[in-house]
Amino acid sequence: MEKLIITGPTPLKGEVTINGAKNAAVAILPATLLIDGICTIDNLPNISDVQLSCKILEKLGAKITWNNKNSITIDTRNITTYKAPLDLTSKFRASYYILGSMLSRNGEIEVGMPGGCKLGARPIDQHIKGFESLGAKVTVGNGTIYAKAKKLTGTSIYMDIVSVGATINVMLAAVLANGTTTIENAAKEPHIVDVANFLNTMGADIRGAGTDVIKINGVKKLHGNTTYSVVPDQIEAGTFMLAAVATKGDILIKNCITKHLESITAKIVEIGGTVEDYGDSLRVSCKKRPTKANIKTLPYPGFPTDLQPQMGVALSLAEGTSIINEGIWESRFQYTEELIKMGAKITAHGKTAIFEGVDKLSGAPVYSTDLRAGAALIIAGTAATGTTEVYNLEHIDRGYENIEEKFRNLGAKIERVNE
Ligand code: EPZ
Repeated sequence: MEKLIITGPTPLKGEVTINGAKNAAVAILPATLLIDGICTIDNLPNISDVQLSCKILEKLGAKITWNNKNSITIDTRNITTYKAPLDLTSKFRASYYILGSMLSRNGEIEVGMPGGCKLGARPIDQHIKGFESLGAKVTVGNGTIYAKAKKLTGTSIYMDIVSVGATINVMLAAVLANGTTTIENAAKEPHIVDVANFLNTMGADIRGAGTDVIKINGVKKLHGNTTYSVVPDQIEAGTFMLAAVATKGDILIKNCITKHLESITAKIVEIGGTVEDYGDSLRVSCKKRPTKANIKTLPYPGFPTDLQPQMGVALSLAEGTSIINEGIWESRFQYTEELIKMGAKITAHGKTAIFEGVDKLSGAPVYSTDLRAGAALIIAGTAATGTTEVYNLEHIDRGYENIEEKFRNLGAKIERVNE
């Protein structure tokens, strides 16, 4: 079993370069199934969710060539089956994007029930509602989702809840449908805009991505022969911003879109950090102990749920008492039990947690319960006095490329060992 051993405290200092966005990449890869041709995708994060997505595409008949560790060329001309491998698709969440893409391309698809981080109930009713409104029949049972459509016809779909996955999936299904599809109450995250930009580069006609009304005018086909570069990862950038604050460090975060980070920047300034904005990079520093703040996570442009645990570490160490209200997931405070082992004073109940700031954390063996919880524990271990051992690294490797190397380059004493 692998674990990370971190000895702290270390104020993180130096430069870090952000990779392409996981949550854009895991949607753009299945979106290539809409193309009957070849395309190249650059700035792909080299993480296990991307490797898994590539394996699934290969099992469906795609040919993938790695140009370097962050670029692939993918040929989707010979897709040979409509059955996505159940064992692989049920390993992560974003495999549900195969449904939208293949329904559009092939009119028939079966995938395993999507897995992913355990953050509470993760229903897919809005995805199914969208597919059915477009004319598909969807059957869920025996651990699989099967969708079939003779033809898909554009229509107006109102999302009952703001959902990243359902917005992207319906967009994928509608790209080759007959007529115009309107998604109302759409999610607005940067990765939604990125998937729409990718599809438009390939010949789709999608307007309004990034607002809450997206219009997709169906086109006959998408062409290949294009190169697309994935947007920088807003959540990875935010993770390092909060690492700078929690460790009282000073980090230049390169290759990010600072506009995507406004809600995080505002909160960091509120708790006493300094953020200098250079357009495509940010310098974040914090000279003294952060101060308390209240946070509510919301869909974009609100404070992202995927940075809630990392902010939780900063608030554990803040002066005063803070409250975090989790607005998206039922069960995203599991990491607080691990922080308590390190001396944090947190009371979590349902979707609310109260953080009574302490002036230091102390190293302990801790377990990442999901991807962002894992990132939070690495930050906590770097800020804490003594040795922290972080277990369950498979969660972290799903979404961060070379995380320990990036922390080490910023001065952290961190190593990965195999027990
Ligand atoms: C995406 O998950 C991200 N995953 C998550 O990233 C992120 O936490 C989440 O969006 C919110 O920003 C990927 O992009 C692969 P949702 P997704 O559909 O699409 C409810 C990370 O750490 N809902 O926007 O699954 C749902 O229960 C992760 O990188 C329905 O009720 O999230 C939740 O309360 C983990 N019915 C809310 O909507 C549906 O049909 C938002 O979920 C769909 C969702």
